[in-house]
This record gives sequence, structure tokens and C-alpha cells, in this order.
Amino acid sequence: MRLYRLPKSGAIEDLTLAEVEQPRPARGQVLVRMRAASLNYRDLMVVTGRYGGGGVKPGLVPLSDGAGEVVEVGADVSRVAVGDRVAGTFMQNWIAGGVAEEHNGTALGGAVDGVLAEYVLFEQDGLVRLPEHLSFEEGACLPCAGVTAWNALNTERPVGPGQTVLLLGTGGVSIFGLQFARAAGARVIITSSSDEKLARAKELGADAGVNYRAHPDWEAQVLALTDGRGVDHVVEVGGAGTLPKSILSTRVGGSVHLIGVLTQGQINPSLIMRRRAVLRGIYVGSREMFEAMNRAIAFHGIRPVIDRVFSFAETLDAFRHLQGQSHLGKVVIRIG
Ligand SMILES: NC(=O)c1ccc[n+]([C@@H]2O[C@H](COP(=O)([O-])OP(=O)(O)OC[C@H]3O[C@@H](n4cnc5c(N)ncnc54)[C@H](OP(=O)(O)O)[C@@H]3O)[C@@H](O)[C@H]2O)c1
Repeated sequence: MRLYRLPKSGAIEDLTLAEVEQPRPARGQVLVRMRAASLNYRDLMVVTGRYGGGGVKPGLVPLSDGAGEVVEVGADVSRVAVGDRVAGTFMQNWIAGGVAEEHNGTALGGAVDGVLAEYVLFEQDGLVRLPEHLSFEEGACLPCAGVTAWNALNTERPVGPGQTVLLLGTGGVSIFGLQFARAAGARVIITSSSDEKLARAKELGADAGVNYRAHPDWEAQVLALTDGRGVDHVVEVGGAGTLPKSILSTRVGGSVHLIGVLTQGQINPSLIMRRRAVLRGIYVGSREMFEAMNRAIAFHGIRPVIDRVFSFAETLDAFRHLQGQSHLGKVVIRIG
């Protein structure tokens, strides 16, 4: 079988296609024939050695997000059966409840080998069934971007009907955030560097858009769109460079879900105090959250928004496409 491995150089151009022996499942393990994978911004950081402080990990199989079909199960496997359509969970051992340090050590395509391979062995606990109405390409969008947006808006400080959610940019996490906010009956304000992307986001259900390039003071626009009150939730994918403006966009006592690291900057903590904002750090989510999300996706008939699908042979182009940031939603690789 074929898989991709990370190069020493930390350059996308040097990602290597290798042939290895197809693995066989041991007790409790499941062999999945991968049909599709999707890229996250994190995967660019992993390739270039900017993720988690450990530098490049040569030889690592990249990508956390993939979906496929169960083709063989080991002894004592009861959670899935041959023929099931499944996706792997981002942290293979975070099943339910609160996150713990030990969960970081099982993150696919980072701490351990990922899913950019024709076949992948999973522990049975690290899989969920795909919602029936989704294709493999759509299912492959869920494990990181989908579950992260779900965790932000539907767990500890959930969004409610009539509330307003602010989404930053139109990448994978933010577009899932748009879909989940709408499903919860909330109003959506979204920012983007592109008017075309804002128009597309409105077609997808956003109520208002702000171009953050044209309006560097975008927090003033957000406040104006909420009659000066501020939004109830921010899905904060920007990081330090956008956080001060995100807090200024939030109502007193609102929630800022800290997710991303796209920008650099500094933050004055008194902003948080004055807004009495609640900042929540989020690192994807548990299998229990993934399963709850899938039930909601099935109930509402939500389909992940795919920008473009590349073939397995075009994997390097898929990475370059994500790096170019011209996408809206998810970038997918069809594996087989
Ligand atoms: N903590 C977690 O568990 C977790 C999970 C998933 C992702 N993340 C992080 O969340 C971030 C987004 O990930 P992703 O996979 O959704 O990325 P992505 O699909 O590559 O999307 C990135 C988008 O962010 C927007 N953006 C860039 N700079 C911005 C700025 N200054 N202000 C507002 N928007 C800006 C751009 O949207 P426009 O083109 O519309 O301007 C860009 O297309 C990354 O930092 C990633 O590492 C964290």
C-alpha cells in the first residue's frame, strides 16, 4: 500500500510517497481502507515543523482527518464491523469527559502517524461511524475542523437561539461554526479578507459579513451590527493578533472560544476583565462530542462545505492550495 511521509526539509515539495506492507489488525484493532482525507491549517504547521514546538518529525504520516471503510477487524472488536463507513477521532484515546495531558500523545498526524495512507490501523475506540447522508469526502472533513467548531459552540458554554456568533475568516473551522450556529438558531457575523468569500458565506446562511482587510477596525463594525452590545460568542481562530479585537467585539460576559494561531500579537489582560469575557481554550474534542455532532449533522442534514477535491497523486497541490488560503471551507484529498 502507499502512504505519504514527512520530509526532513520541512518543505511541502519534499513530501514523500512510499510503498509499505499493508498492516493486519491485532486484537482490538480495525483496518480501514481510507477513501478520503482532509487538510487542516495544523497540517501545514506539522509539515514545516511549526507545530507543538518539536520541529519537523521526518517519516511521520501526516493528516488527522480521514474517512474510509472497515475492511478487516481483529479479535474482540465489537464497536464496528466490516463494511462500516467510519472516521478516526483526532485524539485516539479521548473518549469522553474532560481532556487530560495523556490525550495529546495520541493525536493523529502529529503525535502519532496520521491518515494520508491507503490503509490505516485504528484501535476500535478511536473510530466513529459517519452520518449516512455524507460521502467519504464529506466525512473526512469532520474529525478536526468539525469537532473543534462543535466543541466551541455546543459544549461548556453552548450557543442558544437568538444569540449572535462571530466567526473569523472562512476556513474549515469557521464554516463549520457557521453551520452549527445556524442550526442552533443563532445569528452569524463572519469576517473575511475577500468580498467574494463573504458573499458565499451569506449564501451559506451568514447574516452579515465584514471585510477585515477593508476595515482594519472590524470590531467597530461588529459592534455596530449588534447595536453596540457585542456578540455572545466568538469562534477565535485568529490567535494573538485578532484576540484584542475579538474581545472588544464581545458583549459583557460573553464567550471567546480560543482555537487558532493564525496571527501574532499582544494582548492586554485588562481588556478581558473590562469585558468580563470568558476565554476558553479548546483542543478539538472527544469521541463523545464527535458522536453528538454527528447526530446533529444527521438531524439537520448538514453537509460539510468542500472547496476542492484533489487526487492522492495531487497531494502536494492540495497542501499548496491550503497554503494559498484562497479556499473557503475544506480542502480534501480523494484516496481511493
Ligand atoms: N485548537 C484546536 O483544536 C484547533 C482545531 C482546528 C484548528 N485550529 C486552528 O484554527 C485556525 C484555523 O484553522 P483552519 O484549519 O480552519 O484554517 P484554514 O482552513 O486554513 O482557514 C484559515 C482562514 O483564516 C482566515 N484568516 C487568516 N488570517 C486572518 C485574520 N487575521 N483575521 C481573520 N481571519 C483570518 C482566512 O480566511 P479568509 O480567507 O476568509 O480571510 C483563512 O482562509 C488555525 O490556527 C488552526 O491551527 C485549532
